[in-house]
Amino acid sequence: MNSPEASVTLVVDGARATVATIGPASLLAVLRDHGHLVVKGACEQGECGSCSVLMDGALVCSCLVAAATCDGATVQTARSLLADDLGAALARHGAVQCGFCTPGIVVAAEAALASGVALTRAAVVDALAGNLCRCTGYQGIIAAVLEVDAARRAPR
Ligand code: FES
Ligand code: FES
Repeated sequence: MNSPEASVTLVVDGARATVATIGPASLLAVLRDHGHLVVKGACEQGECGSCSVLMDGALVCSCLVAAATCDGATVQTARSLLADDLGAALARHGAVQCGFCTPGIVVAAEAALASGVALTRAAVVDALAGNLCRCTGYQGIIAAVLEVDAARRAPR
Protein backbone atom coordinates (compact mmCIF):
# COMPACT_ATOMS: atom_id res chain seq x y z
CA MET A 1 0.00 0.00 0.00
CA ASN A 2 1.36 3.45 -0.84
CA SER A 3 2.06 5.82 2.04
CA PRO A 4 0.03 9.03 2.09
CA GLU A 5 1.63 12.05 0.47
CA ALA A 6 1.40 15.54 1.89
CA SER A 7 3.02 18.81 1.07
CA VAL A 8 4.61 21.20 3.49
CA THR A 9 5.97 24.70 3.05
CA LEU A 10 9.34 25.41 4.59
CA VAL A 11 11.72 28.33 4.60
CA VAL A 12 15.20 26.84 4.30
CA ASP A 13 18.16 29.20 4.56
CA GLY A 14 15.87 32.06 3.66
CA ALA A 15 14.23 30.47 0.62
CA ARG A 16 10.59 29.38 0.72
CA ALA A 17 9.75 26.04 -0.83
CA THR A 18 6.74 23.78 -0.90
CA VAL A 19 7.79 20.16 -0.95
CA ALA A 20 6.08 16.81 -1.07
CA THR A 21 6.57 14.45 1.82
CA ILE A 22 5.69 10.80 1.67
CA GLY A 23 4.55 8.98 4.76
CA PRO A 24 7.11 9.09 7.55
CA ALA A 25 9.87 10.80 5.54
CA SER A 26 12.24 12.67 7.82
CA LEU A 27 13.13 16.32 7.53
CA LEU A 28 16.66 15.12 6.76
CA ALA A 29 15.45 13.10 3.78
CA VAL A 30 13.35 15.95 2.44
CA LEU A 31 16.15 18.50 2.82
CA ARG A 32 18.64 16.28 1.00
CA ASP A 33 16.11 15.36 -1.69
CA HIS A 34 15.69 19.08 -2.36
CA GLY A 35 19.35 19.82 -2.74
CA HIS A 36 20.38 20.77 0.77
CA LEU A 37 23.27 18.35 0.70
CA VAL A 38 25.18 20.32 3.31
CA VAL A 39 22.94 18.49 5.80
CA LYS A 40 24.60 15.13 6.33
CA GLY A 41 22.99 11.85 7.29
CA ALA A 42 24.76 8.99 8.97
CA CYS A 43 23.14 7.09 11.84
CA GLU A 44 19.60 8.37 11.19
CA GLN A 45 18.89 7.50 14.83
CA GLY A 46 19.68 10.74 16.63
CA GLU A 47 23.10 9.55 17.74
CA CYS A 48 25.69 11.34 15.61
CA GLY A 49 24.50 14.92 15.14
CA SER A 50 25.57 15.09 11.50
CA CYS A 51 22.03 16.05 10.45
CA SER A 52 21.70 18.96 12.90
CA VAL A 53 19.72 22.00 11.79
CA LEU A 54 18.04 24.89 13.55
CA MET A 55 14.28 24.62 13.23
CA ASP A 56 12.49 27.78 14.30
CA GLY A 57 15.71 28.56 16.15
CA ALA A 58 15.89 25.28 18.06
CA LEU A 59 18.61 22.69 17.52
CA VAL A 60 17.17 19.43 16.20
CA CYS A 61 18.42 16.24 14.64
CA SER A 62 16.60 16.44 11.33
CA CYS A 63 16.64 12.65 11.03
CA LEU A 64 14.28 12.47 14.00
CA VAL A 65 11.80 15.09 12.76
CA ALA A 66 8.93 13.93 10.58
CA ALA A 67 8.81 16.25 7.59
CA ALA A 68 5.03 16.18 7.62
CA THR A 69 5.08 18.03 10.96
CA CYS A 70 7.21 20.89 9.63
CA ASP A 71 4.69 22.95 7.69
CA GLY A 72 5.49 26.64 8.16
CA ALA A 73 8.84 25.99 9.80
CA THR A 74 11.98 28.02 9.28
CA VAL A 75 15.06 25.84 8.90
CA GLN A 76 18.66 27.01 9.02
CA THR A 77 21.31 24.64 7.79
CA ALA A 78 25.06 25.00 8.04
CA ARG A 79 25.24 26.62 4.61
CA SER A 80 25.59 30.23 5.75
CA LEU A 81 27.30 29.38 9.01
CA LEU A 82 30.20 27.66 7.29
CA ALA A 83 31.02 30.91 5.54
CA ASP A 84 31.04 33.08 8.66
CA ASP A 85 33.39 33.61 11.59
CA LEU A 86 32.74 30.16 13.04
CA GLY A 87 33.61 28.33 9.84
CA ALA A 88 36.77 30.39 9.53
CA ALA A 89 37.77 29.69 13.13
CA LEU A 90 37.26 25.95 12.68
CA ALA A 91 39.51 26.02 9.64
CA ARG A 92 42.15 28.06 11.48
CA HIS A 93 42.21 25.58 14.35
CA GLY A 94 42.57 22.55 12.10
CA ALA A 95 39.13 21.42 13.20
CA VAL A 96 37.95 20.46 9.72
CA GLN A 97 39.58 17.24 8.58
CA CYS A 98 37.33 14.88 6.58
CA GLY A 99 34.63 17.51 7.15
CA PHE A 100 31.71 15.13 7.45
CA CYS A 101 30.79 16.25 10.96
CA THR A 102 31.45 19.93 10.30
CA PRO A 103 27.96 21.02 9.17
CA GLY A 104 26.41 19.50 12.27
CA ILE A 105 29.12 20.93 14.50
CA VAL A 106 28.63 24.48 13.25
CA VAL A 107 24.88 24.28 13.70
CA ALA A 108 25.17 22.94 17.25
CA ALA A 109 27.89 25.44 18.09
CA GLU A 110 25.85 28.31 16.69
CA ALA A 111 22.94 27.31 18.90
CA ALA A 112 25.27 27.53 21.91
CA LEU A 113 26.80 30.81 20.75
CA ALA A 114 23.33 32.30 20.27
CA SER A 115 22.26 31.37 23.79
CA GLY A 116 23.50 34.70 25.11
CA VAL A 117 25.52 33.05 27.88
CA ALA A 118 29.31 33.41 27.90
CA LEU A 119 30.63 29.97 27.03
CA THR A 120 33.03 27.99 29.14
CA ARG A 121 34.99 25.03 27.90
CA ALA A 122 32.60 22.74 29.79
CA ALA A 123 29.62 24.45 28.19
CA VAL A 124 31.07 23.93 24.72
CA VAL A 125 31.78 20.27 25.47
CA ASP A 126 28.21 19.92 26.68
CA ALA A 127 26.78 21.74 23.65
CA LEU A 128 28.64 19.43 21.28
CA ALA A 129 28.00 16.23 23.19
CA GLY A 130 25.56 15.08 20.53
CA ASN A 131 27.96 15.61 17.62
CA LEU A 132 30.41 12.85 16.82
CA CYS A 133 33.72 13.60 15.14
CA ARG A 134 35.98 10.68 14.37
CA CYS A 135 38.91 12.77 13.10
CA THR A 136 39.84 15.75 15.17
CA GLY A 137 39.83 14.81 18.85
CA TYR A 138 37.60 17.86 19.44
CA GLN A 139 40.32 20.14 20.86
CA GLY A 140 40.45 22.38 17.82
CA ILE A 141 36.67 22.47 17.60
CA ILE A 142 36.35 23.56 21.22
CA ALA A 143 39.09 26.17 20.84
CA ALA A 144 37.40 27.58 17.74
CA VAL A 145 34.01 27.92 19.41
CA LEU A 146 35.52 29.60 22.47
CA GLU A 147 37.48 31.98 20.25
CA VAL A 148 34.36 32.97 18.33
CA ASP A 149 32.40 33.46 21.54
CA ALA A 150 35.12 35.74 22.92
CA ALA A 151 35.38 37.67 19.67
CA ARG A 152 31.63 38.23 19.41
CA ARG A 153 31.59 39.54 22.98
CA ALA A 154 34.54 41.86 22.59
CA PRO A 155 33.70 45.57 22.56
CA ARG A 156 33.77 47.06 19.06
S1 FES B 1 21.87 11.24 11.09
FE1 FES B 1 20.65 12.32 12.53
S2 FES B 1 21.71 12.10 14.42
FE2 FES B 1 22.85 10.85 13.01
S1 FES C 1 36.36 16.10 10.71
FE1 FES C 1 36.01 14.02 10.11
S2 FES C 1 34.32 13.40 11.36
FE2 FES C 1 34.86 15.34 12.12
